[in-house]
Amino acid sequence: MTSVLEIRNLHVSVADKPILKGVNLLVKQGEVHALMGPNGTGKSTLAYTLMGHPLYVVTGGQVIFKGVDLLELAPDERSRLGLFLAFQYPVAIPGVSVANFLRTALNARRRAANPADKGIPIPEFRKLLKAKMDMLQVSHDFAGRYLNDGFSGGEKKRAEILQMATLDPEIAVLDETDSGLDIDALRIVAEGVNKLAGPNMGALVITHYQRILNYIKPNVVHIMLGGQIVESGEADLALHLEERGYDWVREKYQEKAEA
Ligand SMILES: Nc1ncnc2c1ncn2[C@@H]1O[C@H](COP(=O)(O)OP(=O)(O)OP(=O)(O)O)[C@@H](O)[C@H]1O
Ligand SMILES: [Mg+2]
Repeated sequence: MTSVLEIRNLHVSVADKPILKGVNLLVKQGEVHALMGPNGTGKSTLAYTLMGHPLYVVTGGQVIFKGVDLLELAPDERSRLGLFLAFQYPVAIPGVSVANFLRTALNARRRAANPADKGIPIPEFRKLLKAKMDMLQVSHDFAGRYLNDGFSGGEKKRAEILQMATLDPEIAVLDETDSGLDIDALRIVAEGVNKLAGPNMGALVITHYQRILNYIKPNVVHIMLGGQIVESGEADLALHLEERGYDWVREKYQEKAEA
């Protein structure tokens, strides 16, 4: 069965300030959606809310993932169910190696699918991780380093994609995974997303630039303004934004832009 993430009329406040004001979005396994929009319009707020960050308070609406009310689940339960989130500013976990972090996360996900699962045997995990690192052209010594500790901006983003590739989520939300990547890394990361998207994974790619969409072909491009998705269109909508900026969107949806 195809897994679906459905966001229905979602309202979210941060510190009593309404940020999301009725977001509707449906992402299916196998589809790539791009989410664009000016700074401060609520794109990361949507990602944090999907993760279950306590600062982001849902004041209305629903999020249904695989038929389950996502908002009722703790962040780790969301992840085990097959939702993956990569953040604009990944956090460092000194003392925990990339390999240990990934094995623990993978085992938690396997156990959620099958409570009798004994965990992936270490040699098998090593093989899997090596294959994923090769796919993403990440150096093997990455696995032994502490997660994001002292990683460069681009290395953090690659670590996020490595996590995604290892956990094999059904829906992934990538918040500006392209920012700060050099041209080669951008292509590698995008190819990684392409290899994983397809029948098994759906993706919501939050980005400011059309560039990454040269590599990842979105089925739909959405524009967020004033905490709502105001336009959705085909891939050429991103090209249009690149050429014309956001002024025409603001003019067209003036009331929402000012709200
Ligand atoms: N933790 C927070 N504390 C205070 N305000 C917040 C917090 N998180 C978000 N906001 C506010 O919510 C609004 C939306 O922020 P958000 O980070 O979602 O924007 P964005 O669309 O991701 O922008 P960008 O393109 O710059 O990443 C902004 O006005 C921001 O200041
Ligand atoms: Mg953001």
